Amino acid sequence: MQVLVTGGTGYIGSHTIVELLNHGYKVVAVDNFSNSKKEVIDKIEKITNKKIKFYKLNVCNKRKLETVFKENKIDAVIHFAGYKAVGESVQKPLMYYRNNLDSTLTLLEVMGKYNVKKIVFSSSATVYGDPEELPIKETARLSTTNPYGSTKLYIEGILKDLYISDNEYSIAILRYFNPVGAHPSGLLGEDPNGIPNNLMPYIVKVAKGELPQLNVFGNDYDTPDGTGVRDYIHVVDLALGHISALEYIDKNKGIDYYNLGTGKGYSVLEMVEAFSRENNVKIPYKIGPRREGDIASCYADTSKANKKLNWKATRTLSDMVKSAYKYVSKN
Ligand code: UD1
Repeated sequence: MQVLVTGGTGYIGSHTIVELLNHGYKVVAVDNFSNSKKEVIDKIEKITNKKIKFYKLNVCNKRKLETVFKENKIDAVIHFAGYKAVGESVQKPLMYYRNNLDSTLTLLEVMGKYNVKKIVFSSSATVYGDPEELPIKETARLSTTNPYGSTKLYIEGILKDLYISDNEYSIAILRYFNPVGAHPSGLLGEDPNGIPNNLMPYIVKVAKGELPQLNVFGNDYDTPDGTGVRDYIHVVDLALGHISALEYIDKNKGIDYYNLGTGKGYSVLEMVEAFSRENNVKIPYKIGPRREGDIASCYADTSKANKKLNWKATRTLSDMVKSAYKYVSKN
């Protein structure tokens, strides 16, 4: 089976390609390197000792994307490509809507033309907004608080309408909780440009001495230690979730939604403590005000993915924080 991966050199895309190759899939990847580097391709090939076919293109470019479908027999698509910075999406909403929706619509049109009807889509727990109940089930009420989140929710709706129009489609929508960590080889990991927005990349920069201290966004939440609680999932477990979803949609038509998390929440201070302890490095931090738009707690009910996809996250918090540090120490 040959799989097209959009956003293939990004953080989650690259780890997923490694697992696809390890599981015997053939891979065609596309990316425009808007938030990743060309070297990632060599690293994927070094880890797996296998080759991928790669096209540098923007998924919004229909003519170029069609070339990929003309030159390769694509059986299924995993669609990662998209902008993903929450704060930036608030500043530049049109850029987010244009890019994330246009690329998806273009991809779906081209898939339709070439009769490719299997797709795994990268959604996010952000579609649950401020959850009413924990752990969060897939049936929870959906809402968003920023344009980035809205693009994910709108795309979920587009895919649903597409399925309603044609029941030959097989669609898996994966709602990621908080992906962290890196490949055990130390070759692939998360490498955001500039000052990171997310917790783990920020901690890593503090550990390396590139930033003086972590700002903890509030310690007055209704959580055990007052800091925000999230469901951190190792990126390799997340990548394996895509393999399980692909196996499922290959055999079953329909559209369905799956939480990919561990089901366990950790607070900001627990993450800092685990990172310090496991890597034997100091992480100075200061408690500051809450970040606008943040919620107290967010963690998944993963039973649906466990049962239907036969998938479960197995990597520990120690694996997450150690691999994250190993990656930056090597790069
Ligand atoms: C964020 C996005 C979410 C997106 C996800 C992708 C927001 C509001 N939400 O989730 O839409 O899908 O990233 O990974 O941005 N924290 C600090 N100091 C920091 C950074 C974070 O204390 O410098 C805290 C936050 O307040 C939060 C936790 O760490 O409690 C996790 O934050 P982050 O890694 O940004 O993820 P989310 O906010 O859960």
